[in-house]
Amino acid sequence: MSVGALSWLSDRLHLDENQGLLGKAFPAEDSFLLGEVALFSFVIIVLSGIFLGAFYEPSTVDVAYNGVVDQFQGEELPAAFVSVLHITYGVPFGMFIRRLHHWAAHLFVASIALHMFRVYFNGAYRNPREINWVIGSLLAVLAMAASYTGYALPFDEFASTATGIGYNIAASVPIFGDFLAQLVFAGEFPSAGAIPRLYFLHVLLIPALIVGLLVVHMLVLVKQKHTEGERSSSEAAAADVDQDDESVVLGLPAYPNQAAVGAVVFFLTAGVLSLLAGFLPVHNIVAYGPNDPASTPGLVMPDWFLMWLYGFLKVLPGWMAFSVAGVEFSAEFLGALVLPTLVIGVVVLWPFIESDPGPKHFTADPLAAPKRTAIGIAGIALVLVASLAGMNNLFGGALGISTDVLNPILAVAILVVPIAAGVVTYVIVDTGTGGNG
Ligand code: HEM
Repeated sequence: MSVGALSWLSDRLHLDENQGLLGKAFPAEDSFLLGEVALFSFVIIVLSGIFLGAFYEPSTVDVAYNGVVDQFQGEELPAAFVSVLHITYGVPFGMFIRRLHHWAAHLFVASIALHMFRVYFNGAYRNPREINWVIGSLLAVLAMAASYTGYALPFDEFASTATGIGYNIAASVPIFGDFLAQLVFAGEFPSAGAIPRLYFLHVLLIPALIVGLLVVHMLVLVKQKHTEGERSSSEAAAADVDQDDESVVLGLPAYPNQAAVGAVVFFLTAGVLSLLAGFLPVHNIVAYGPNDPASTPGLVMPDWFLMWLYGFLKVLPGWMAFSVAGVEFSAEFLGALVLPTLVIGVVVLWPFIESDPGPKHFTADPLAAPKRTAIGIAGIALVLVASLAGMNNLFGGALGISTDVLNPILAVAILVVPIAAGVVTYVIVDTGTGGNG
């Protein structure tokens, strides 16, 4: 925006009264741009999603196929499947936009995870930023839910089978299982009601919640200001502030400097995603064919970011199931819902668990905080090992070991590896700090 246009807008909207907003300081730290990558991935998801929504048909009613894919010519196929075939092979740029949407969703989740690690290892969640940590954690869960609900939409054999795993998990909840399955899947999955229900969740409810929480996330960020890395004496002297003064943040003003950096990050994000969309294919629905309730494809797996949940589900031994007063608590419920809920609960409440009184506005150096760094590495190790457990049939096949033999080993690894990783990290970092951590 030109200076003239800005002063016109400022005149109409009294922006000068919000000088703090336009002048808000953004510390010039590269890792602080990860949140922006997440934001811009979301923008690209929404824009590409609007394009896809113009052609997608959320219905399982059979229609005759007469598009360009020879093998389905004249067949009666579910309308949802036919519409995705049409988007992929009939609509100009359809395949590209479908791939863009797919890769943007993956980058969205990946950049959220990296942004979360940055905030965690910098201790940027401490007083007073606990609110944004909690909101951020909810955003992470919603990002995964958005992806999950989109997975089934093409209604092909692979995606429907993978989504069906979620249906079984929802139905396994004691007492409320039927209600939950009804709420998310409109009854049995797959059924005629499921696709419209998942479509509603995927394009309206979950994105609306994400937008709402994002607005609050940004408002809280502006109100509380960013954290800032350790300030050097020369930086402090150049800005004429005290080196330890936490009440001011040094950085680039929101306008025009940070706006320009943001534009670069946006175009880089869009460019990288366009390259991925141009060269990397996504889920080939022609190869899988439409959903067939009578068959199950050989190797069904969720996306990488849901793999850790799947790992818990796979390795929790059946004998752990129990019942109380006739109500059954299945291993499926314990592995796929109770354990992940505990992990997510600890993450959400972390700023209150690691109670650290007094506001902190400078970021912490991970190498000077052995306990926090060790717990963070242990958490990442837990998710990684659980994710490996989710791929047990791949390992089993490659190593020639049956999953019955492999699962108990993986269950022990889920417990032992994170503890070992945490202890080793603690010792290394603590030795580096001279045992003062
Ligand atoms: C939709 C997902 C998210 C988006 C788009 C987003 C966006 C942003 C942006 C642009 C910033 C400012 C720049 C930066 O520090 O990176 C920020 C700051 C912050 N975010 Fe997020 N975020 C998301 C999810 C999360 C998650 C999952 C967490 C943690 C669980 C989180 C916690 C925070 C905190 C505590 C700050 C303040 C950091 C500081 O002042 O240093 N956010 N977020």
